[in-house]
Formats: sequence, structure tokens, C-alpha cells
Amino acid sequence: MGKYIIRGGRRISGTITVDGAKNAVLPILAAIPLCDGKFVVRNCPDISDTHITIEILKSLCYEINFDKKTLTAVRTKDSTGCVPDTLVDKMRSSIIFMGSLLASGGFVEIGYPGGCELGKRPIDIHLAAFRKMGAKITEREKTVICEAKKLKGCDITLDFPSVGATENIMLAAVRAEGTTTIKNAAREPEIRDLAEFLNKMGANVSGAGESEIKICGVKKLCGAEHTVLSDRIVAGTFLAAAAMTGGEITLQNVIPSDLNPICASLAQSGCIIKGDANSVTLHAPERLSAIDIITEPHPGFPTDMQAQMCAMLSVADGFSVIDERIFSARNKHIPELIKMGADIKMWGNGTVSTIRGVDSLHGAEVSARDLRGGAALIMAAIAAKGESIVKNSEYVERGYSKIEEMFRSLGADIDYQQ
Ligand code: UD1
Repeated sequence: MGKYIIRGGRRISGTITVDGAKNAVLPILAAIPLCDGKFVVRNCPDISDTHITIEILKSLCYEINFDKKTLTAVRTKDSTGCVPDTLVDKMRSSIIFMGSLLASGGFVEIGYPGGCELGKRPIDIHLAAFRKMGAKITEREKTVICEAKKLKGCDITLDFPSVGATENIMLAAVRAEGTTTIKNAAREPEIRDLAEFLNKMGANVSGAGESEIKICGVKKLCGAEHTVLSDRIVAGTFLAAAAMTGGEITLQNVIPSDLNPICASLAQSGCIIKGDANSVTLHAPERLSAIDIITEPHPGFPTDMQAQMCAMLSVADGFSVIDERIFSARNKHIPELIKMGADIKMWGNGTVSTIRGVDSLHGAEVSARDLRGGAALIMAAIAAKGESIVKNSEYVERGYSKIEEMFRSLGADIDYQQ
């Protein structure tokens, strides 16, 4: 288990290039088993979730080469459609392989993902959709088996615009018989990127990024090349870190419009933000102002940026309220921030927090309990007076590639120790 050792009190300022998005690369790699052919995926983030996904592809008989953010994949023989439990346990998002394996081989057996560090993570919306498309679902104690000789296109209205369910249905529907329409679909930018990749493979997907997606099933798909969309959550993390430390930062290789929900909140708290075709620059004010945040599906404020904003607002002027409405247990960073001098109270079942901004945080020994909460603690430690240790780096490594090097290049005093 690694840890970050951080001597705080430095400004985060400078220019960085943002890598490909974790939440885009995972469904894109999960699309690969849909057909034979050679795949080249560029701008893949070098994070542990990418490496787990590579292990899954290897277990499905793919030969993978991953070098300098470019991944190539070719199937060497037919696979069984079984995803090893050990890999599902390591990464809940492995259920994203269900759609493509069901569509290509007519069979998938995968460990039931159960809960995770963010709270209960059911997959009922995914399974209801597969059932509607004609799949037979057998739910055992620990695994789910989906079988279908041929999936049939149909109209599916989601109870909630689940990102993973929207992607799984898209992956299943591209090879189904007839047309599938997803209503109340998730509108996250990563869905748009998946659709672009699928269309390069010869699929017929339209409306991705809007709430109604139409997928006309095709008989044949082929290998494809694609460059992964940049990571708006990594971008938001560095913007918030610069804002919190009174810095000035430019991010390159971003799509400014995808960052609108995050930038709107940062601007509300007093930051000046300018964007052009593929970069965004933020100037922090002398003191940030308190703001309120409600997490919602895109284009609302993303739950994946909530913890980082909580860290940032812990030193803003006034009272802020954060209402986490997507996940039930996404505030595990709060007790750790309190150890650093933050004044935060949690209400009700722990999803609403009120933050009274303090003048400054102080160093402490804290532990990451999830990916984004871990990033929030690193931000807080960089802003704090004195030395901090942030333990459990493996959570952070799931979604940030060498975060310590990125922050160091922006002026932070941070080391990583195994
Ligand atoms: C994806 C992202 C994750 C992000 C989340 C919300 C990936 C790999 N992960 O996760 O980083 O935080 O979107 O933006 O892209 N739900 C159900 N039943 C289901 C499916 C979901 O009740 O069948 C609930 C979940 O428990 C949760 C909410 O819906 O409360 C949102 O989940 P969902 O949008 O599916 O998130 P993920 O795809 O798992």
C-alpha cells in the first residue's frame, strides 16, 4: 500500500495536458469482444483500472500491447464468455463487459458486483434491459448468467439515467436484430465517445449525448482505431486544486463544453475561467466564496467531482452545502478532512454536508477510502500548513496516472512512497 507525503502551503500553478478519461476507456475496451479485427486505442490513461480491463481482455483470449498510452488488441482464439471473479472483485465496472459478450457469444457469466466503497451498487436496470431484449437471466448467489441466441431490438425506458446501463445496452444493441431505442439515457460525454467508437466499428448509433439514443443493429462489425476523450474529472480535480491554493492553471487537451458543469461552480465561487478550442485557464481569487452543490446526472454537477469540491470549499469564505444525490456513501473523505481542521457537518443519512470555510487547514495523517475522496485529501494536504500523509494510494491510482508527478510539475511538494 503506497502513501503520499505532502508538505503543504504551495500554490498549484502552471500548464498540464489531461489524459484520456477512465470512464470513456473502460466501455471502449469492453466493446472490443463485439467482433474480430485489430483495435488501436490511443490516449488510454495509464491507471490501474485500465490494467484490470487489460487483464479481463487477456482472460477473454486477447493479445494486448499497451505502450505510451496506445493499446492494441487482437483476439487469438474464441473465448468462453466467463469473466474471472478475481477481476470483477477488483473493479466493479467489469460488468460493462456483459453487453458485448452477450451480443457476440450469446453467453456471459460474471460475478455479481454487490456493494462497493460508494454504497449499494445494484445492476437491476442493466438486467431488466437485457431481459427486454430477449436474454434469459439466471441470478445465482454470486454470479449472473445471461444467455440469448439472438438479442432483439426494442424500446427501453430507463428508471434512472444510469451511465453503465446505458453503455451496456448500447454494447448489446449494436449487434441485435432490429432497432433499440433507449429513453431517459445517460447523457455523459463518455457515452458520446463510446458511440463514436462503435460507429467506427461499423455500428449505427445516433443520439448519444442526448436523452434518447437509437441503435440500429448491424450484421457485421470490424476492428477500429480511436483516440479516447480527455478526462473531465481529472481536469476538474486540477482546476479545483489551483482554485483552492490561489493559483493559476492552464489545462490542455480538454473539451471546455464538457467541463461546463464544473466550471460554472468554480466561477460561482469566484474563479475567472477562460476556455478556447481545447484548453481552459483558471485564475483563482484571493479568497474563494462558499457555494452550494447538488450532484446530478450530466449535465448536472458530477458526483465524481463532489469530494474535490468539498475539500476546496473547506477553505472558502462562508457556509457551503453539498447534497450528494447519486451515491449513498460518498462522504468518507469528510472525517479525514476534519482531521486536517475542516469544519464540516453531515446530516440525515450522511449524504448532505454543510461546510463552514476555515482560514486554513493543517497537516495530518489521513487515509483515502475511495478514488475521488483520495484526490480530495491530496488537494487538501497541498493547501494545508505543515506535513500530511495520505495513505491508501491504490484508490487514487485507479483513476489518476502518477498524480504526484502531475502535482509536482505544478509546484506541489509531494512524494510517493511504497
Ligand atoms: C459511472 C461512472 C462513475 C460515476 C457514475 C455516476 C464509470 C466506469 N463509472 O458509474 O465514475 O460516478 O457513473 O456518474 O463510468 N443504479 C441502480 N441500478 C442499476 C444501475 C445503477 O440503482 O442497475 C444506481 C446506482 O446505485 C447509483 C446510480 O444509479 O446510485 C448511478 O449509477 P450509474 O450511473 O449506473 O453509475 P455507474 O455506471 O456505476
